[in-house]
Amino acid sequence: MEDRYLNLLAEAKAAGANSYSPYSRYPVGAAILWETGRITTGCNVENSSYGLTVCAERNAIYKGICEGERKISALAVSVQDSKMPSPCGACRQVIREFAEECPIILQNGEGKIAISSLRELLPNSFGPEFLEKNERR
Ligand code: THU
Repeated sequence: MEDRYLNLLAEAKAAGANSYSPYSRYPVGAAILWETGRITTGCNVENSSYGLTVCAERNAIYKGICEGERKISALAVSVQDSKMPSPCGACRQVIREFAEECPIILQNGEGKIAISSLRELLPNSFGPEFLEKNERR
């Protein structure tokens, strides 16, 4: 495993320590490596109105977008649970908005690491180029 991906996982794990997940008790941390070389992190933030919960992945992505980033190079997800994490369907589509393909590095609470990719997790996907008559910002 490349050092930059191990570093990204360490950032994801640290972000997971701030998870607000009193309802599921399933803390998640995520870190995005942007094409610029910057990293943004996020954790899951739950709500007593359960449907308002936002996943760690989307929080990490939206933080970067709000700071001017546009292209995802890699994503790391870290959980404390013994099962390996797997980004939810909604997050897969949001990743797809900012990457056609990228490595997705996963780590469970026992330190086991697996590497997947956006194309593997979301094959035959719909993305911005389907609407390319519209200008991208
Ligand atoms: N969750 C994430 O943050 N990322 C995932 O990849 C899976 C699910 C969160 C949402 C919720 O706070 C908790 O995990 C249980 O679904």
